[in-house]
Amino acid sequence: MLSKKMQKALCDQVTAEHYSAYLYLGMSAYFNSIDLPGFANWMYIQAQEELVHGIAIYHQIHERNGEVTLNTIEAPPKKWKSPVDVFENTCSHEQKVTASINNLVNLAIEEKDHATNNFLQWYVKEQVEEEATAYAILQKLKMMKDAPGGIFMMDKELGARVFTMPSIMAASAD
Ligand SMILES: [Fe+2]
Ligand SMILES: [Fe+2]
Repeated sequence: MLSKKMQKALCDQVTAEHYSAYLYLGMSAYFNSIDLPGFANWMYIQAQEELVHGIAIYHQIHERNGEVTLNTIEAPPKKWKSPVDVFENTCSHEQKVTASINNLVNLAIEEKDHATNNFLQWYVKEQVEEEATAYAILQKLKMMKDAPGGIFMMDKELGARVFTMPSIMAASAD
């Protein structure tokens, strides 16, 4: 059984993951608007993954006989200055998500809620990857600033990304 405090914190994370999805969907729309369909594809898949992150927590709350309360999802920024601007924001957003996952783990440890701590470890690991991937793209973009052909090469590369169901979903569906 989840404590009320843990339950609320997990519900807030369901909302936060949905906000991430919304943020990345907005970024995908931006890339479509500047004719970079590969970047748009990458962000669209990113948004889909974030939805799954949120839904997996939703299942976990039910699994522990908790109650889900859904909160308001804030609107993401509507304008971006450049692809670099987008990925700088992606990096800082993922750092914020890492901090909120760490806070959830801290609470689980404080409450000796080993089941929640164990569940959250998937997210701890995922955040390492999320931060590293966004940072790598940002660095590449910065390096390509003076090579106009570079961004189109990268667009092709990012266009090849396909959605694969995050493993947390498989784990929480059974
Ligand atoms: Fe996420
Ligand atoms: Fe993420």
